[in-house]
Amino acid sequence: MRRVTAWAPGRVNLIGEHTDHTDGLALPMALDVGVRLEGEVGGDRVQLRSADAPVPVDIPADGSSAPSDGWGRYVAAVAAELHALGRPPVGVVGTVSSTLPQGIGLSSSAALEVAVAVALLRAADRALPAVEVVRACRRAEHAAVGVPSGVLDQAASVLSRSGAALLLDCADLSHEDVALPDGIAVLIIDSGVTRQLEGSGYATRTRELGASLHVLDGRRPADVAVAELAALTAGMDDVPARRLRHVVTENDRVRATVAAFAAADLGTVATLFADSHASLRDDFEVTVPQTDRLVDLLKDNGALASRMTGGGFGGAVIGLVHADEADAVAEATLSAYGRAYPDLRARTVLTRPGAGAAEQAADVLTP
Ligand code: GLA
Repeated sequence: MRRVTAWAPGRVNLIGEHTDHTDGLALPMALDVGVRLEGEVGGDRVQLRSADAPVPVDIPADGSSAPSDGWGRYVAAVAAELHALGRPPVGVVGTVSSTLPQGIGLSSSAALEVAVAVALLRAADRALPAVEVVRACRRAEHAAVGVPSGVLDQAASVLSRSGAALLLDCADLSHEDVALPDGIAVLIIDSGVTRQLEGSGYATRTRELGASLHVLDGRRPADVAVAELAALTAGMDDVPARRLRHVVTENDRVRATVAAFAAADLGTVATLFADSHASLRDDFEVTVPQTDRLVDLLKDNGALASRMTGGGFGGAVIGLVHADEADAVAEATLSAYGRAYPDLRARTVLTRPGAGAAEQAADVLTP
């Protein structure tokens, strides 16, 4: 029996939040934790077990039928997308394991999708352009759970390169590496507030934003100057006007953050992160009091810059920290947060930029 292995990382977004669903800019990075799949090639079914999930997955290798809930929906949707792209329906029997904390917004579902895609391509000796696999996995996410999410998570998991963040243009998936200043680490703190509303809240926000886009005459928000906003939103209802203001200013902050990193100007990065968080709180309205508090506590306890990350409605915040102070910042922040919210269980993940899946699977994910 021939064996296949596949690996895909989770991601964290440094800045550029809720810009991906209108083809904007973001600055994610892959983590050094993720999802691994190991299996044997053969037959015409995909049969996977995971220590993290009680129910194993058993689906036809062409993805033509899917379970109605659970993680098998993602596996089946990826198999179906790859089948539509011409992958022969070769089966795999194996195990999935994850070092990625689940449910805190680090894209465990995208990492699962990408790991499954790499394994299925290897099993069938098929290669596809990496960006095609990104798009296939995004379509699979939609098919599996019906949330109209953008392409950020899958792109970060596939295209990131080790040691760097990824400046990503979600319109065409063009991307470049962005080095973080020396000695800086990224601290992720989960608020302990589960993102139960994310599905419905996410769809509501994209719809509200959508109601503003007609004033752009076909341009995307990333191509609108901040100075144009006042004229564009004059006479518009308050909610769509604020949703559009968030997205236009957030795209601008991505470009400014990349410039500030290049200049090792962490003071400017701190301002941009704070402005991003305020915009997500006041204009896009996806923060909760607990994530607002955590962002402040991180700054109070020594982080250089902090903001919420991911879709919002709970979930995680990030802090940029001096690497040698990371543990102390995490400990002080967690203990202050625990005093404010004794019933919530916050968790920290200290991470470095990891390698994207394409860097490790150049045989099946081609440029
Ligand atoms: C979630 C989605 C992403 C992106 C972020 C917000 O993580 O899955 O596509 O929209 O929210 O930036």
